[in-house]
Amino acid sequence: MCGIVGYVGERQALPILLEGLKRLEYRGYDSAGFALQGPVDFEIKRNAGPVDGLVEVSKGLGLTEKEGIAHTRWATHGAPNETNAHPHRAGEIVLVHNGIIENYAEIKERLTASGVKFSSQTDTEVFAQLIEAKRSRLAEDSPGANPETTLIAAMKAAMAEVEGHYAIVLMSRQIPGKLYGIQNGAPLVGSTLKDGALIASDLQAVIPHHNEVSFLPKGEIFIADRDGIHCAGLKVEKIDWTADKVEKGGYESFMLKEIFQQPMVVADTLTGRLPSDPKSPFIWDHQKAHEVLWKNVKRLYLVACGTSAHAAMAAKYFFERWARLDCQVDIASEFRYRDPVFEPGTVVGVISQSGETADTLAALRLANERGVSTFSICNVPNSTIARESSFQYPTKAGPEIGVASTKAFTAQLTVLCALALDVGRLRGIQSARDTEQESFLGLARLPQDLDHILSRSEEFIRIGETLGKQRIILFVGRGTMFPIALEGALKFKELTYLPAEGFAAGELKHGPIAYIDPEVTVITLAPKDEWYQKTVSNLEEIRARGGHLITLGTEGDRVLEGLSDSFIGLPSAAWGTAPILSAIPLQLLAYGCARALDRNIDKPRNLAKSVTVE
Ligand code: AGP
Repeated sequence: MCGIVGYVGERQALPILLEGLKRLEYRGYDSAGFALQGPVDFEIKRNAGPVDGLVEVSKGLGLTEKEGIAHTRWATHGAPNETNAHPHRAGEIVLVHNGIIENYAEIKERLTASGVKFSSQTDTEVFAQLIEAKRSRLAEDSPGANPETTLIAAMKAAMAEVEGHYAIVLMSRQIPGKLYGIQNGAPLVGSTLKDGALIASDLQAVIPHHNEVSFLPKGEIFIADRDGIHCAGLKVEKIDWTADKVEKGGYESFMLKEIFQQPMVVADTLTGRLPSDPKSPFIWDHQKAHEVLWKNVKRLYLVACGTSAHAAMAAKYFFERWARLDCQVDIASEFRYRDPVFEPGTVVGVISQSGETADTLAALRLANERGVSTFSICNVPNSTIARESSFQYPTKAGPEIGVASTKAFTAQLTVLCALALDVGRLRGIQSARDTEQESFLGLARLPQDLDHILSRSEEFIRIGETLGKQRIILFVGRGTMFPIALEGALKFKELTYLPAEGFAAGELKHGPIAYIDPEVTVITLAPKDEWYQKTVSNLEEIRARGGHLITLGTEGDRVLEGLSDSFIGLPSAAWGTAPILSAIPLQLLAYGCARALDRNIDKPRNLAKSVTVE
């Protein structure tokens, strides 16, 4: 995710652009830049690091131009540095971009062969060069043609070639006073102001200027100028949000906003990695090294803390079933002190949303010191953990503001599911073809399956509101649902401050069943999987002792409905994606209870977003 701002009108553009970028930093902050339509040429300034750095380097430049575009980046292709920062220039045009051009590599190869020189590793520059190549060719063929007609024709021709979901805003040296762009699956919102036009990736950069906005229609080229935004199918809506609500995109909290971002986040995390043909290999940033690493691995350690450790625990099932790989999961604060055994062929993977967790970083450094190959699954590309691991398999969740992790968790599980599937193929494992194939297809439809579950959010929130008076809430699951039960308990306790415990369903009779009475609610994850019958037996044990049962199962399961006080039926899902989908109702149950108790949803007491202390 990245943040785009564009302005054209009667006021100085730079202050508007920089203020807009500050409001969009939650979408990415590893580098930022702007381009202004100057009297002699474009004035372009780019800076690695957050927007404040760009503000600093812009001071005293005396840039008073009245039209420009700006961008704050969340690196997808190419390191987060000045070279890869937007805007990117190509001849007469300069462009900013949000989203991913999936087929950028083949287009770049073709343009390079035709003599185009690239200065960055980004897909964005490829898009800019493609438009410019088409524009200059059209201009050569029709020297007297109107520059705007030529530019728009070039944009359309380039859009016909690129694949992916994206939004772009650009300016041309030949056509001062105008911005051009399109959204093709990545949002753009704009407003016709009394003195010009403003375009941005999200409402929070527009609302401070005007509460009458337009969500730009997908696939329609727009033109913005002093008189406003011009685009086919444009509708104007009145938004009555406070500034705080704008920050949260209309949601009551960042956490709720991030829960609802999960379909887009999973789509972003899979884009460019999931092959269109189920038989083809997955696509990673370091393909060759990736293949060498996994063809020679003998044992895998997955090391993390908290929610990230729950993702690691679920991945253990993936790697052992699909790749027949010995996979050990360790809590980082234990791993670093237990003098682990590193046999030849050992790989250590660390998982971290923040990329700064002290215990996880110490575990990574221990593995690096012992000469072990390491990789990180991290949500902050240039964090310490990301930079110090041998390989990166980044999630694309974008900055996560809520301290209780939600979208980063499902993004971690998505990467781990894809990685384990791919490692199984690299190791030539055929033993679990059924769950392997259904899980590949499950990944492909995961964003819409997540959307479907989120459409029932109110149902889960309402159930959560009823849990505040129980003596304790137990979360129970088997197999891949066991780590999700642990995650459900962690979400619940860290948001509501109430006692909650997660454990393996098979462990109930080894002690926890002593808890059970009518003041105890047991939330059980019981999809119709290979462990279903065993879990139903556990439910009967709980029922017999008067426990209050909330059960997440496969929709239409009459047996579970009959056994439960509340039954949440979910669509049947692939073995590998069922854990990801089951996390959503648990996030919303915890949210509903915490809100009913008037807890601080985004900043629960005693917690920190990044635990950089031991
Ligand atoms: C997540 O809801 C918790 N706030 C916490 O357990 C977190 O997962 C843990 O501190 C690890 O953080 P990391 O993923 O940034 O390393």
